[in-house]
Amino acid sequence: MRIHHPLLLWFALACGCSGASSSTAVAERPPSADMKKLLAKCTSCHKSGPLDLSVYSRSELRKKLEAVRAGKTKHPTDMSTLSDEQLDEIAAHLAAKR
Ligand code: HEC
Repeated sequence: MRIHHPLLLWFALACGCSGASSSTAVAERPPSADMKKLLAKCTSCHKSGPLDLSVYSRSELRKKLEAVRAGKTKHPTDMSTLSDEQLDEIAAHLAAKR
């Protein structure tokens, strides 16, 4: 199907029809104040260059976050206390927008 109207395209994206994961709705929510602070910490190191996290798709990044939280990937800061929802949200905001 071809989508001619920009609003229809927006709906197609927003409904998750084009998305892979079940947490697609997360990215459409603006981050909470706490999440903004957390994301700002992450991006103080992960903004560009070899640490840029936006080279990953959301589902790839979600898996990597899981590995960091579990201590399977070495990381300078502790992420062991983050919840599944926080990992979903981080992945939604820092992964590639695709
Ligand atoms: C002090 C700088 C710093 C901060 C702050 C930081 N990171 Fe990292 N992060 C790193 C470094 C350095 C590595 C690479 C570690 C290594 O390979 O040994 C890394 C690795 C990662 C990886 C693994 C990437 C991969 O390719 O497997 C993820 C995912 C990640 N960080 C997410 C985050 C998130 C999410 C936050 C915020 C909650 C965060 N980081 C905060 C420095 C930082």
